[in-house]
Amino acid sequence: MLDFSRQYSPLRAEILDAIAQVCDSQSFILGPRVAAFEAAAAAACNARYGIGCASGTDALWLALAAAGIGDSTAATRPAGLPDAVITTPFSFFASTSCILRAGARPLFADIDPRTFNLSPDAVAELLRLRVGGNVKAILPVHLYGQCADFDAFNALRQGRSDLLLIEDAAQAFGAAWNGRPAGSLGDAAAFSFYPTKNLAAFGDAGLVTTSSPELERRARSLRTHGMPRRYFHDEVGWNSRMDAIQAAVLEVKLRYVDEGNRQRRDRAARYDELFRAAGLAAASESASTKDGIVLPYTDPRATHVFHQYVIRAPRRDALREALAARGIGSEIYYPVPLHLQAALKGLGYKPGDFPHAERAAAEVLALPMYPELRDDEQQTVVEAIRTFYA
Ligand SMILES: Cc1ncc(COP(=O)(O)O)c(C=O)c1O
Repeated sequence: MLDFSRQYSPLRAEILDAIAQVCDSQSFILGPRVAAFEAAAAAACNARYGIGCASGTDALWLALAAAGIGDSTAATRPAGLPDAVITTPFSFFASTSCILRAGARPLFADIDPRTFNLSPDAVAELLRLRVGGNVKAILPVHLYGQCADFDAFNALRQGRSDLLLIEDAAQAFGAAWNGRPAGSLGDAAAFSFYPTKNLAAFGDAGLVTTSSPELERRARSLRTHGMPRRYFHDEVGWNSRMDAIQAAVLEVKLRYVDEGNRQRRDRAARYDELFRAAGLAAASESASTKDGIVLPYTDPRATHVFHQYVIRAPRRDALREALAARGIGSEIYYPVPLHLQAALKGLGYKPGDFPHAERAAAEVLALPMYPELRDDEQQTVVEAIRTFYA
């Protein structure tokens, strides 16, 4: 699926030098190195502020808590309807667990079957029905590296200044919507720098971006125990500080992330070409595996960064086994939609509630994708798929 060493080799000297500088400084947590990375990353996202933290999961929680959503920072639980946040049932678990951790209630709406992202129409319907709590925010995920439709989400909050938009941009560093970068599309955004991500640390790390001074101040305070002054605690926060070594590595890699994303788009276009040439691809606008493999759809307004190249495949599980037998990696992101996860049973959803998400979970398959993937390797992947269907 991935070969990290191909990215590391050419950057090795630069990265080791940056790490050595941290070791020489003996300043390991937060400090000038983290501040420098926060500023550079925020600028790249066209956001005023960046707040480095320990993971993408923490970044999501910090964004929600800083916006005052849920009761996780309150000393006592307030009376009345719980805060609710609308999100997608088709994502990594953290997109929803962060809402529960913030002390709010997740409300799911189905996805757009072409992009796999949260459907603005489904969200509009949920807002119209006014069920499930006091909706404080919408939390779309830029799944696989393609931004959710922020024109439509912004339109939904016209006349509702109390409704916030929080981006789960964990998979989308460098992506854009109508030319506006992920990280600047809503009130706040969360990025993950988990080692498989397009911008990747040498361990866990994350970032909140925002252009609101109030959100910035609060997120910064919450990541260090709600302690703007040493040992004076204004509210109940958490320890989610970023390490200087991670910031140093990320600052180096930030210089190369746009080039890496461009190469990912080239690799995606090459897969498309190979699938079409092999006669395997369904008609491009079709979203049905009855006609063959459904290739990834890119909205014309999106600058996709192909964190993953995800097809819909007939007989997906058998195909995956056949690829594995030939030593070809693939992955299912995600096999169980969130509303059907055992841990989230208490939310009261049932099979059939979100048919598009459920069908996606049964059909999607992510193929090897990274900037340094070679043409001959892609040919091998597509040839193995052709042989399977033959
Ligand atoms: C969509 C999405 N949200 C949130 C996260 C959580 O990020 P992390 O693993 O850095 O906590 C991830 C990454 O794993 C993700 O893919």
